[in-house]
Amino acid sequence: MSENKTASEKSISIHQTIDDVRSVIDLHKQNGKRVGFVATMGALHAGHISLIEQAKQKSDVVVVSIFVNPTQFGPNEDYDSYPRQLEADIDECRKVGVDMVFAPDRSVMYDEKTYLSIGIDQLNEHMCGGSRPGFFEGILLVVNKLFNIISPDVAVFGQKDIQQVQIIKQMVKEFNHGVEIISAPIVRANDGLALSSRNAYLDDKQRTTAPGLYRALRYVEQQVTSGVDQPKLLLTHQKSELEAKGFEIDYLNLFSAKTLQPAETLKKNEEYIIAGAAYLGKTRLIDNILIEL
Ligand code: PAJ
Repeated sequence: MSENKTASEKSISIHQTIDDVRSVIDLHKQNGKRVGFVATMGALHAGHISLIEQAKQKSDVVVVSIFVNPTQFGPNEDYDSYPRQLEADIDECRKVGVDMVFAPDRSVMYDEKTYLSIGIDQLNEHMCGGSRPGFFEGILLVVNKLFNIISPDVAVFGQKDIQQVQIIKQMVKEFNHGVEIISAPIVRANDGLALSSRNAYLDDKQRTTAPGLYRALRYVEQQVTSGVDQPKLLLTHQKSELEAKGFEIDYLNLFSAKTLQPAETLKKNEEYIIAGAAYLGKTRLIDNILIEL
């Protein structure tokens, strides 16, 4: 299916099947075009758009996938209620000059019965992987499928989900996907809250409290960059401050950017992720800051 717009508007094509999207990508590749890819679950916001802008700079044809991936949601998570607004997302993609949208149904991506899965060692033990069993396996499965379907030359992921991008980089390396992975900076609201499709769940009071998570991370950043090398007490204190504001903490810690393992004593010239995940009511917020000491 393809939509042709007026001459002033670039045309965008919408694809729902694998054969359809592949045939158009094959044509572009035959014409020597470089394909850029941004994978999303829709409910697009300025964070997603920033990835699309980066993909545009790095390629000739930009493909955006919109697919709420069932295999990355746990049984008690928000798969059913996850915001779905395909028409509005397609309009947004058209406005920012996306060439192709791949928006498959669940049945296009997954057979009723599947036999294979991807295992992860160590990299998913902590951070979001620690509290969401099967989450990163589901992400790797769908990203692996999407890479096989789209065959992108370059794919842009957000640092917002830093564990995701690190694990995807590892998959690309170990599975020899011929794609360059770019990690794009976190886009924030004016008050510092990292943009997320799930922010739509927050009520007014929670929305006012929400930037507290980023402020806590910034405080930890300031302390560790000015010499605190054993951050345990500092983190305990920040956790209780957040709890007093109404957050229920999942984790708040420093992790090695390489191994994604918690770091108790910090060393110079090493990269660390200061990361937190916390609930406000039922809404799970995540955020992080990447630092090199
Ligand atoms: P989704 O949450 O829709 O995010 C799609 C991409 O947008 C991810 O790479 C994410 O890191 C990035 N992103 C989200 N919020 C951002 C922000 N505030 N600033 C910059 N980038 C941001 O992540 C997923 O979907 C899924 O796990 C997916 C990779 C599509 C696999 O299903």
